[in-house]
Amino acid sequence: MKISKVDQLSGEIQIPGDKSISHRSVMFGALAEGKTTIRNFLEGADCLSTISCFKKMGVSIERDGEIVTVYGQGIDQLQEPVEVLDTGNSGTTTRLILGILAGRGFHSTVTGDESIAKRPMKRVTVPLREMGASIDGRNGGDFTPISVRGGQLKAIQYTSPVASAQVKSAILLAGLQASGTTSVTEPHKSRDHTERMLTMFGAEVETNGMAVSVQGGQKLKGTDVFVPGDISSAAFFLVAGAIVPNSRIVLKNVGLNPTRTGIIDALKKMNVELTIIENQSDSPEPFGDLIIETSSLKAAEISGDLIPRLIDEIPILALLATQAEGTTIIKDAAELKVKETNRIDTVVSELKKLGASIEPTEDGMIIHGKTTLKGGANVSSHGDHRIGMMLGIAGLICEEAINIENTDAIEVSYPNFFSHIDTLTGKA
Ligand code: S3P
Repeated sequence: MKISKVDQLSGEIQIPGDKSISHRSVMFGALAEGKTTIRNFLEGADCLSTISCFKKMGVSIERDGEIVTVYGQGIDQLQEPVEVLDTGNSGTTTRLILGILAGRGFHSTVTGDESIAKRPMKRVTVPLREMGASIDGRNGGDFTPISVRGGQLKAIQYTSPVASAQVKSAILLAGLQASGTTSVTEPHKSRDHTERMLTMFGAEVETNGMAVSVQGGQKLKGTDVFVPGDISSAAFFLVAGAIVPNSRIVLKNVGLNPTRTGIIDALKKMNVELTIIENQSDSPEPFGDLIIETSSLKAAEISGDLIPRLIDEIPILALLATQAEGTTIIKDAAELKVKETNRIDTVVSELKKLGASIEPTEDGMIIHGKTTLKGGANVSSHGDHRIGMMLGIAGLICEEAINIENTDAIEVSYPNFFSHIDTLTGKA
């Protein structure tokens, strides 16, 4: 895909539904008793993988564009799948489903694409085995394909070495099926969509500082879910609006859950002109409209507690930093190495090809700005949706047009990404 420099971006777009919330709404709907209706569901490949896995376990799910209806019959009614559960490129589907399968008294096999095959599963298989599940897989059981024979689980009090909502959620989903109270304590707070959604589905969840706990044996009841726009998708246009000259962009209905708004804090630190209009409804997941304008940027340090709150936004933040005066340091972000690609390597290698001054470190990267991005190069998403989109935005400010390979990967979380660029450049 060829992307060329533009003079300005202006207009309004509806950011597609949040990926984390879309996955969870299908999963919890499938475990609940009764009907769940989901509005503004993300029709990205990852969330469609989640739907397909639950259909293979006998759950009736209907999709009409962004409206999804799940006819849950209770967790006990999930059926032993005849086929392998294919989670595609989705780490969230893979890890959360393992937590569900751990408590089911049947056999199942979970596998995904070549990126999933490289991602560490030990972080969930270790605690799930401790709870009593029988789990095996490639390379000692820690990489897909993974097979599970679930059964009666016992509660654990788990201290996670990583701040990961996927780990926390997998254990809580197993904990719902265990005898006793299961708790997970994290080093930093990760996104809390699971906790909020369990409450929406009628379960009791207790949060105490960095610890979250659930009592086993609770039943979920089907409900209606509105999925706000994904702030991780909005981030690409927040940065685009800030770095493309003469721009003003309105992003509608973006999720503003405080465990996800690290990007807003980082943008403010870097001097971005941003207005937030919060929606006043009492939705369990807060949301609002964001207005972003071209800004005169300054460098910042991005580290510590902020990292889990913006972990998926670091690729696009790195691009922003190339346009900020001074040296931006991103640290405490070693988790980037085990995302869809090693995002320290892929961000650095692709931005360097465009002319950025950027160096990798053990747990992040250092970016010197402000640099003119010369472009005129062939770059690749490396099969990683967020790298593909970061490059799509970079192309809008490069002196010479760039060619991005493997843009199909963007389907995973933002199928209409390029048509939104066209809307804002006045081409659509
Ligand atoms: C997610 C959690 C995060 C995030 C991923 C979605 C989730 O992963 O990077 O895109 O929906 O729970 P980790 O749990 O590995 O930090």
